[in-house]
Amino acid sequence: MQGTEPQQATVHLRQPWEPGQSMFVNSSAKRIIVRAGRRGGKTLGVAIKGLVAFLKGRRVLYAAPTGEQTDRFWFEVTSALREPLEAGALRIDRTERYIEVAGTQQRIKAKTAWNADTLRGDYADLLILDEWQLMNEDTWEVVGAPMLIDNNGDAVFVYTPPSLRSAGVSKAHDPRHAAKMYEAAGKDASGRWARFHFTSHDNPHISEAGLADVLKDMSRASYRQEILAEDDELSASHLVYGAFNEAQCRIPRFEIPADWPVYSGHDFGTANPAALFLVKARYPIPQSVPPQIRPNDVIVFKEYLPGAGTSTAINVEAFKDIIKARTVRASAGGSHQEEDSRGVYGKHGWNIQEPAFPQMRPQVDRVIALMEAGKVYVFEDCVFYLSELASCAWEYDREGQRTNKIENEARYHLSACARYILSLSDFTPDTVQSRSFPRYTDNRPSEMAGMRRR
Ligand SMILES: Nc1ncnc2c1ncn2[C@@H]1O[C@H](COP(=O)(O)OP(=O)(O)OP(=O)(O)O)[C@@H](O)[C@H]1O
Ligand SMILES: [Mg+2]
Repeated sequence: MQGTEPQQATVHLRQPWEPGQSMFVNSSAKRIIVRAGRRGGKTLGVAIKGLVAFLKGRRVLYAAPTGEQTDRFWFEVTSALREPLEAGALRIDRTERYIEVAGTQQRIKAKTAWNADTLRGDYADLLILDEWQLMNEDTWEVVGAPMLIDNNGDAVFVYTPPSLRSAGVSKAHDPRHAAKMYEAAGKDASGRWARFHFTSHDNPHISEAGLADVLKDMSRASYRQEILAEDDELSASHLVYGAFNEAQCRIPRFEIPADWPVYSGHDFGTANPAALFLVKARYPIPQSVPPQIRPNDVIVFKEYLPGAGTSTAINVEAFKDIIKARTVRASAGGSHQEEDSRGVYGKHGWNIQEPAFPQMRPQVDRVIALMEAGKVYVFEDCVFYLSELASCAWEYDREGQRTNKIENEARYHLSACARYILSLSDFTPDTVQSRSFPRYTDNRPSEMAGMRRR
């Protein structure tokens, strides 16, 4: 490193991911609003943006209403500037949390603020307000905006649509103030404003395990807001699996009776192989099973998403581990053209048949019909399948008419597994079939004692 200019030091800047994060990092609009999902890379993105601005000589102020976010930003900034700091080219104040070029206006600072009073006392020419939806509106109106007037500064607002889960911690008067700003930004014709939207799933750096942690206990509405970052809930009619009654059919895990037949659906592909395991409830239903479960109902009990690069042998081992000592009644998967993939699994001892009908639409209709009849249950820890059910939407044409296509169909791997396996005749919604169960009467045989009345 030469001299005292941080630009000449080795600064370890992370590469913003394409396209979502890099679009707002590289935008030169005076006012930017970013609406994005949890763990989407919002804080890291503004850290990169703030660092780039700081290295160009600007005075950057980052504020977030929670210490956790401020810590995250500060960690990223200090890590990136570690070398110039060690070389003494920059001055750091760890208590006030800023780094500056001594004797200049050039500075980057992180602070925890949630309203006008807590933001007051600093000035900047790039102001970043993270978790903007949780801040009070006066943070910007009373202190933020006036702070930028003198030097014609820029502002970046970052938010995740607030769900009921976050309602308690918000300092906002109007819980939709960030959404309104986002809407207004879309109507701005002057070029002053730019707005960006991405979902948690768009962030290539987040692992499924990391996301699963966030998804736990999330309702369908929270999922739309916090993961898909949608401000207004899509109506159930937009959703392909809107017939799935989450309140009734998302159920806690229970011990599956040993004699219930197991089925599996499979989606091939090296990048994102997937499998979904389900059982069909059988008569008589033990008392330990939730009371709404009826014979022939389907219970999705395990999802399998290993990520890229696992071999067929490893996948088959994992399948056997999932089903334990049980045998599988039937497995189905893939399109008509994917006979080779089925063959490879067959060679490894896992036989997969072709779905009963080749077209996607009738397969989907079968799943919807079963859901409408309240016959599909999903264990609550199958969070990725539940997420798919909550987000898989029909495509609409330019006239606003619903088409027969699913938006980004290829992304819904577990839904594909479900429609493949449920296409089999074992799942034909057939009233004759359901009537064929032995009727349970009060003069039941003694070995049925303890079984629930159906
Ligand atoms: N450009 C990047 N390079 C490497 N990792 C990244 C990048 N962007 C985001 N990540 C990683 O993704 C994860 C989420 O990032 P970040 O904390 O910035 O998201 P967020 O949207 O602010 O999350 P939250 O909603 O929890 O505040 C982190 O583990 C982060 O390190
Ligand atoms: Mg964040």
